[in-house]
Amino acid sequence: MIIRQALPEDAVKFAELIHQVKTSSNYMLFNPGERKINPDARRKMLQAFQEKSNSAIFVCEDENQLVGYLMADGGFAEKNRHSAYLVVGIAPHYRGRGIGTMLFEELFNWAALQQIHRLELTVVSENHHALALYKKVGFEIEGTKRHSLKMNDEYVDEFYMSKLL
Ligand SMILES: CC(C)(COP(=O)(O)OP(=O)(O)OC[C@H]1O[C@@H](n2cnc3c(N)ncnc32)[C@H](O)[C@@H]1OP(=O)(O)O)[C@@H](O)C(=O)NCCC(=O)NCCS
Repeated sequence: MIIRQALPEDAVKFAELIHQVKTSSNYMLFNPGERKINPDARRKMLQAFQEKSNSAIFVCEDENQLVGYLMADGGFAEKNRHSAYLVVGIAPHYRGRGIGTMLFEELFNWAALQQIHRLELTVVSENHHALALYKKVGFEIEGTKRHSLKMNDEYVDEFYMSKLL
């Protein structure tokens, strides 16, 4: 398995990975089918991330397939350029094998080089696996978004989490 930055040429495989993550987890923002994952749009997105020095998408590749990603979307204004918002997803059969941890380690190395000072994310309060990963790699809860999502007809909370580098 290798961890590397995603390239525009990865668009088709990247779209497939996002589809797998979404259809296997209730904890991603969009429900399966809610937003079409068009490889062409993904290609443009990968290109745009490549062009921004404070944004990046790391992927884990195994046997020519993408099996995990970690996206860092950097702030666009001068005042928040030092900050990046993160989203992570691992293909179902690859979870619990340390890939999330490896992706974060790679991200921390990159972020330090880009002079990013703050990494932030949100997580559903009952997503214990994701919370375990984030706490393990040094994120702290800094607030609660009360009833910010409605899942299976019930309101659920999300945590704001961050790590300062
Ligand atoms: C949450 C997710 C990103 C974690 O990635 P991962 O590669 O499975 O995580 P790791 O294997 O690196 O495990 C990190 C820690 O999580 C904990 N963990 C591992 N398996 C677990 C499980 N089945 N349940 C709960 N916690 C678990 C452990 O503390 C582990 O650290 P350790 O192995 O040093 O003890 C991944 O499971 C995933 O994509 N889930 C679905 C989508 C999702 O929830 N994304 C996050 C939205 S905020």
